[in-house]
Amino acid sequence: MLLLVLGTAAGGGIPQWNCACPGCSGARAHPHRRRRHASLAVRTGEGRWYVVNATPDIGDQIEERPELHPGPGPRQTHLAGVILTDAELDHTLGIARLREADGFQVLATAPVRQALLDRRRLGEVLAPYTDVTWRELPERGAESLDGTSSGLQVSGIPVSGKRPRYAADAPDDDAWVVALRLYDPSSGASVLYAPALAAWPDRLQQAAAEADCVIVDGTFWDDEEPRRTGISSRTATGMGHLPIDGPGGTAERLAPLSARCLYTHLNNTNPLVDPAAPQHKRLARLGIEVAHDGMVIEP
Ligand code: MLT
Ligand code: MN
Ligand code: ZN
Repeated sequence: MLLLVLGTAAGGGIPQWNCACPGCSGARAHPHRRRRHASLAVRTGEGRWYVVNATPDIGDQIEERPELHPGPGPRQTHLAGVILTDAELDHTLGIARLREADGFQVLATAPVRQALLDRRRLGEVLAPYTDVTWRELPERGAESLDGTSSGLQVSGIPVSGKRPRYAADAPDDDAWVVALRLYDPSSGASVLYAPALAAWPDRLQQAAAEADCVIVDGTFWDDEEPRRTGISSRTATGMGHLPIDGPGGTAERLAPLSARCLYTHLNNTNPLVDPAAPQHKRLARLGIEVAHDGMVIEP
């Protein structure tokens, strides 16, 4: 399995266009601190690629990776489709950006697909431009991405019923947000990708214990961060993101795992966006990494 980390920031990116906080100002002054919206590219067995979540940065994210460049035909893309972990804007706005393709697939759970079709009207809007194939992301078992038994398999482990704000009144469903499990039958390697964790259910713990690599929500360092920095009146948990540090935080979940563990989806208020922050040493002592844009992961 081959994964390219296309971005590691929470909604807004780093820097965020309308933000002058220390994290965003620091990234303007030091370009190596910039982070695009959180996304992965995953290569399937036959050399085709899927992106996990389609962010507002998707055009630039494709341009920055030679592996994802089109060719040799003039309009021949290696991108087969998009796999979604949720329906949030920062993970779905890039879908419409792919309209120049002849066609592409979107794999999502039922509530996520319904939100995109019924509330965002993506089916109607995109139909005159491109041929979108909407595929079900299974909760259990495994869907082969290329339809062969040796191909990379995906499933979405339900994590929480956190809905995007634009679908706040939509029906409850624990598959609004999933942890994506990628499994390579040829090598036996598995990866868990969960950029939005409002909860840590038992089934996620079980999947994390079995995975070779776990990449999870690192939006906020601690529960008070959104209130302390003035971006919200809610705590991190209240905003649907388990914090990294503290009791009930994700660091204490990750530390005992045998998997390689990394954080992604960092908010611009997170102290980890400063490479000199002491919090990096805290994580390193626990054996946990912070993902960065451009990282290549071969589990
Ligand atoms: C989130 O990660 O909680 C969402 O992307 C927040 C948002 O953009 O509204
Ligand atoms: Mn987000
Ligand atoms: Zn900022």
